Amino acid sequence: FQHVEADLAKTLITEEELHAKLQELARQIETDYEGKDLLLVGVLRGAVMVMADLARALNRHIEMDWMAVSSYGSGTVSSGVVRILKDLDSDLSGRNVLIVEDIIDSGLTLSWLRGNLESRGAASVEICTMLRKPDALKVEVDVKYCGFDIPNEFVIGYGLDYAEQYRNLRGIGVLAPHVYE
Ligand code: PRP
Ligand code: MN
Ligand code: MG
Repeated sequence: FQHVEADLAKTLITEEELHAKLQELARQIETDYEGKDLLLVGVLRGAVMVMADLARALNRHIEMDWMAVSSYGSGTVSSGVVRILKDLDSDLSGRNVLIVEDIIDSGLTLSWLRGNLESRGAASVEICTMLRKPDALKVEVDVKYCGFDIPNEFVIGYGLDYAEQYRNLRGIGVLAPHVYE
């Protein structure tokens, strides 16, 4: 079989650093939502790893629901077109919603999604993302919980894909140019 790690030019964030950061974020979330219900909304497919680890880092009751939206297709550049591929099963009225994402790149997906969920009558809609690329932002997105700000490079791993592969890398890294050149 092929070793997936061999296609990495470098590792940006290790598995240990990701998990330490999630513990930090989980403590903040526990404090901020004390006495309130909490519905985590994961954005398929990239957010699967963050969702699984954040949910288990939280020492409180939560619910999980999932949405699938796509703005990238199989390319490396955001098209800005957001499509709902799978909608939520939950009614959001009166709920405290925390959107869980792997990365905010241009911000187009999240700014659209937040507006969409707010319009369904949620009591609150906040965002938790593991990564954000400040230099790639095209629209301002108010993010309450952010793991790491990273440079504007194409990153893979921990849910992030290149042509649907590399999501199962345990850390986050930069793809070696030989893979896509
Ligand atoms: C990626 C990523 C975010 C979004 C961020 O998802 O997981 O959801 O793009 O980009 P933006 O800030 O420029 O809108 P993608 O559309 O690749 O789908 P995936 O999660 O299934 O990989
Ligand atoms: Mn995604
Ligand atoms: Mg993707």
